[in-house]
Amino acid sequence: MRGNLIIKNASQLVTCSGFRAKQGAEMSELGIIENGAVIVEKGMITAVGDSDDLLTGFNTEGFDIVDAAGKSVLPGFVDSHTHFVFAGYRPDEFAWRLRGDSYMDIMRRGGGIANTVKATRRAGKDTLISLGLKRLDTMLAFGVTTVEGKSGYGLDHDTEIKQLEVMQALNRIHPVDVAVTFLGAHATPAEFKGRKDAFIDLVVEMLDEVAERGLAQFCDVFCEKNVFSVDQAERLLMQAKTLGMGAKIHADEMVQLGGAELSARLKAVSADHLLQASDQGILAMARAGVVATLLPGTAFSLKEPYARARFMIDQGCAVALATDFNPGSCFSNSIPLMFALATLYMGMATEEAVTALTINGAAALNRADTIGSIDVGKHGDLVILEYPSYRFLPYHVGMNIVEKVVKQGNIVFS
Ligand code: NIG
Ligand code: FE
Repeated sequence: MRGNLIIKNASQLVTCSGFRAKQGAEMSELGIIENGAVIVEKGMITAVGDSDDLLTGFNTEGFDIVDAAGKSVLPGFVDSHTHFVFAGYRPDEFAWRLRGDSYMDIMRRGGGIANTVKATRRAGKDTLISLGLKRLDTMLAFGVTTVEGKSGYGLDHDTEIKQLEVMQALNRIHPVDVAVTFLGAHATPAEFKGRKDAFIDLVVEMLDEVAERGLAQFCDVFCEKNVFSVDQAERLLMQAKTLGMGAKIHADEMVQLGGAELSARLKAVSADHLLQASDQGILAMARAGVVATLLPGTAFSLKEPYARARFMIDQGCAVALATDFNPGSCFSNSIPLMFALATLYMGMATEEAVTALTINGAAALNRADTIGSIDVGKHGDLVILEYPSYRFLPYHVGMNIVEKVVKQGNIVFS
């Protein structure tokens, strides 16, 4: 752990400066410094400003130096919603959806999440760790320096704990930071068919161990028609909050069930998906400061309508963007794809999309005080793009323009 780095002469240093979620119009404020420099010491940002101001007379001994002339520098991206620890794949389901089956049809037939549960229950920890490492490498190459990962492919005590332990291990051994979420209530396993409340009881019971052992920062639930009701979600998340965990909700994805309203009532950290969220729900989220985490890759892959990002931002919501990377509804962790969909199909300005993938992603993980922007005192987690402006992110459609990634002052990808 050295972490002493100077990046200088950046055509644009896109700071995204801030220590909390940016709501509404603030989302277009990127705090750009031209000819910018950033100094990272022992992993932490110690100075940000104009290259000449900062570096004239500065003793650079002991620092690695990157000349970023002609390039732009941003905070590392935060992918705040994924399900990246799983075994097995579901390409047949993709083919069936092309033929006209819906995601929920396939789930009702016993496919979908249940399929991945079978494979993940069978997989050993080592297998899940090596799959996880490979996936984290891919994320890093896209400029992701912090990712959230959910359990939810076990749906029994041992496998849920195994998934959480795997993510804790990955967090220790891979440069990308992993924020861990317990999603025991992702679906009802076959053993509990017709006994959803009894299954929620079991998940509530598991919370004690998860909280006590510090295995997860958040608790999440798939609140959806035919999955878990608003009441069941509320019961679980209230208990999670009592135990000190942050609440997250897969809300109003296929049907308008009231998940957005629930997230506001609970003061959840985020509500995610929100394709069908009501006007009232969105307004309540804005007032309660709940981050709206939008997952355009899922709407795209399922051929569902996109979440109403424009309306949400205009109503003063804090919007984050994430990939939802998982083997079913969105088998992609492409950050360029998220930029393309958000700007071309969801009415978001490029500036808003940048905020949504940096400081607001950090806020969706309760980490806006330590990551998500280039501010003194934050982690030196940075991305250097091969072009002089952040505007190339959606413009170079679908292409990865990340040239280098810095994690706590060390170059971890180039
Ligand atoms: O966020 N909606 C529920 N969960 C995931 C999909 C999980 C899966 O299909 O494996 C999602 O889309
Ligand atoms: Fe998800």
